[in-house]
Amino acid sequence: MILLVSSAIKFTKSFATFPTHITRQSRAVPSYATRMMMSSNSNNKLPISSRTLQTLDPCVILMKQIISQHADKWKDDPQGIFSLAQGVVHWKPPPTAYEALSAAIQENITPQNDDSVKFGMDGANSGGDGSIIHTYCPDEGYPPLLEALKTKLQTENGLHNPHVMVTSGANQAFVNCVLTLLDEQDEQGNISKCVVFEPYYFNHVMAVQSVRGGQGCGGTAATLDAKNVEGLLVGPTNQGIPDLHWLRTQLEQNKYNEGGNAIRMVTLVNPGNPTGLSLPYSFLKDITELTKEYGVWLVMDNTYEHFDVDRMNTLPSDNDQQKKFDYPCFDEEHVINIFSFSKGYAMAGFRVGYVALSSKNGSNGRGTQTYQEMLKVQDTIAICTSRISQMAALGALQAGREWVYDQVKSLDVGREAILDAISSLGEVIGGNGAMYVMGKLPNGIDDKEFASSLIEHYGVAVIPGSFCGLPGWIRVCYSNLPPDQCKIAAARLKKGIDELTMSPKKQSLSDDKLINLAKDFIQFKNDACMGDSSLDSVFDLCSSSVDLYGLKGEEVRPGFISFFEKHEGLYHELIDEPSVVSSNIVQYPFTKQWRVDGEDKVWKSIDTSKPRDKVERLYFDNNGKLEKVTVVEKDAPL
Ligand SMILES: Cc1ncc(COP(=O)(O)O)c(C=O)c1O
Repeated sequence: MILLVSSAIKFTKSFATFPTHITRQSRAVPSYATRMMMSSNSNNKLPISSRTLQTLDPCVILMKQIISQHADKWKDDPQGIFSLAQGVVHWKPPPTAYEALSAAIQENITPQNDDSVKFGMDGANSGGDGSIIHTYCPDEGYPPLLEALKTKLQTENGLHNPHVMVTSGANQAFVNCVLTLLDEQDEQGNISKCVVFEPYYFNHVMAVQSVRGGQGCGGTAATLDAKNVEGLLVGPTNQGIPDLHWLRTQLEQNKYNEGGNAIRMVTLVNPGNPTGLSLPYSFLKDITELTKEYGVWLVMDNTYEHFDVDRMNTLPSDNDQQKKFDYPCFDEEHVINIFSFSKGYAMAGFRVGYVALSSKNGSNGRGTQTYQEMLKVQDTIAICTSRISQMAALGALQAGREWVYDQVKSLDVGREAILDAISSLGEVIGGNGAMYVMGKLPNGIDDKEFASSLIEHYGVAVIPGSFCGLPGWIRVCYSNLPPDQCKIAAARLKKGIDELTMSPKKQSLSDDKLINLAKDFIQFKNDACMGDSSLDSVFDLCSSSVDLYGLKGEEVRPGFISFFEKHEGLYHELIDEPSVVSSNIVQYPFTKQWRVDGEDKVWKSIDTSKPRDKVERLYFDNNGKLEKVTVVEKDAPL
């Protein structure tokens, strides 16, 4: 049986203290305070940069550590712990990716000719196709992939002849943007600012913090507070939709009289992580125009472009020319678009993403100039993305968008199950975009403790909203598991949510009190049956609206009396100690013996010779009055 909890507020393993706890065990992520001490210790000759120390801890790594901490408890469960935490997909890359990979390897094991040297660093320029996999690629990417991406960007995204740079995932693409666009001291001597919206994608904040540190960004690993401090502006959202009124106010306030703006870049993720919300085309157009008006970069992270299931980003019907694009992007000098092979094509481990800058206005265009500058960053960080990964990505592209859409369709079942599981939460956002939904926990429940309890007691992991700048919420990913498993995980999640979010007023009886009440109940029943006391002693235990074995309120007394009359000498005995299964709910297995028409009868709630595993379950109110008594399967939902 899954070990249930007696009270949501009683969990002693506080998630908030978790990083320290993990540190003691695995030393994987020392606390921020420890790290500050380590770095400022004058005896320590090898300090670490405060920028890195002040960068948020990677939440997915923390989640994995927490999951492995509780893994032992779940080791006998055939399913183990289900993760609905990390944003990965359950399918595999298209076969065409592996075919390309295998062809490349074959070609390299048995080369057609042996003059790999001639391909050198830049295969394209030296007459070959650059498919010698052990060599560097051109910084910007494997030439045949670049060509294919340009075609894709033109036909699927409406970007005309963009400058494309292949990166080690969309994350590196974003770091490239941050390093290329943000200044420590701008033309006015100010730190240049980056806008993200809340809830944010944690790696975006981490990227800005890594080059700025907490001073510039307000975020420290200790406080997780990245709000509105100098270099990082965290904008509000309404039901997941970024507040453009707020953005305009900020752009106005940060405008320099001489021209220019302290805000350098605005970051938008669409479809959203962690919101799981797909923004409409009209919104994307508005934010594009607003940032253009103020001369500010707009960095659009389109990692989830294939997951816009309701096609929110579709051009209006009067725009026939543009309507044909599957996921239209804006071909503007100030817009930088980021894409990934990690999600739709399921190639997260290959580490391939790309960034597209506009070629508008030729060599004078800001996109063209910025692209040239970004190559410095690219050359410094990665030189180039792994050539073999790029070859596999090229193979994947051949499977085409329809292949990806077919995979995305397989998420419908899981999405429905997860939406149902979290439907009891007050507010829910997402579900029509990237593979996430967010739910708001009742006030007063700590999202980190809640997430930890879900793992420990219900075997299911989600991400606490605090990690994305939205405390009091959780993020649930529905793409990690194939549909059938996702349904099981959703059932666990539902149970966890139902039990852990019970209203606090229901949580006031202690375990000892509940166990004694349960024993009293059985004792009173036996006394009444043996004629040692009247049945009133049993009814005294009950609330006026009690439901006893399906007999409600007024029906209880006559129904009970006639039952006892038929069952001469009825006697109950516990097989095991009562156990508290949730707030004010206690259960136990039992036997009963009685005589009917002179014949002895025995009934066991747990009987190994029969497929029977039942318990008597008692529900009490806060005054210790019985509200309900049932006999149910011992794992029956509460
Ligand atoms: C919004 C967003 N951008 C970027 C990434 C990282 O993508 P990649 O694996 O291509 O680096 C993720 C991954 O979860 C994401 O959610």
